[in-house]
Amino acid sequence: MERCLILIKPDAMKRNLATTILSRFESQGLKMTALKMLHMNNVLAERHYAVHTEKPFFRDLIEYMTSTPIVAAVFAGEQALEKISRIVGATNPVKAEPGTIRRDFGLDITQNSVHRSDAPETAETEIRLFFTKDEIFDY
Ligand code: CMP
Repeated sequence: MERCLILIKPDAMKRNLATTILSRFESQGLKMTALKMLHMNNVLAERHYAVHTEKPFFRDLIEYMTSTPIVAAVFAGEQALEKISRIVGATNPVKAEPGTIRRDFGLDITQNSVHRSDAPETAETEIRLFFTKDEIFDY
C-alpha cells in the first residue's frame, strides 16, 4: 500500500475544479484518507517546494501557490504513486497525455492544476507537512 499527497492548485480552485479533480482519483480505485482546505503561507510553500529553491521559477511558484486557498488530500492504494502519475500527466500540460488531469485542465507549466508526490519518501515527507497523524484515516 502506498500513499501520495495531492494538492489542488490555485488555477483549479479559481475555476471550481477541486471536486472534479478529486473524483478522478476516487474513480480509479484510490482511497481518499485525508482532506483539507487551507491557504498556504510562504513558510509552508517554501518547505513543500524546498527542492526547487535554486530554480529560476521558485519565487513565481511560491507566489502562485500562496495566491488562493488550496485543497490538500492523501490518496492511498496499491501502486498509488504510479497510478497517480498516470492520472495526473506530465508537468507541462502541453506534453501531458490526452485524458490526464493536467492535459484536460492545466493552463501552463506553473498553473498545472495539481501537485502529486513523485516518490514514496517524498510522499511521506510532504504528507507530514500538511497533515497530523490523527487527520489521516484508515477505513
Ligand atoms: P509540481 O509537480 O507541483 O512541482 C513543482 C512545480 O513547479 C511544478 O509542478 C510546476 O507547477 C512548477 N514549475 C514551474 N516551472 C517549472 C519548470 N520549468 N519545470 C518544472 N516545474 C515547474
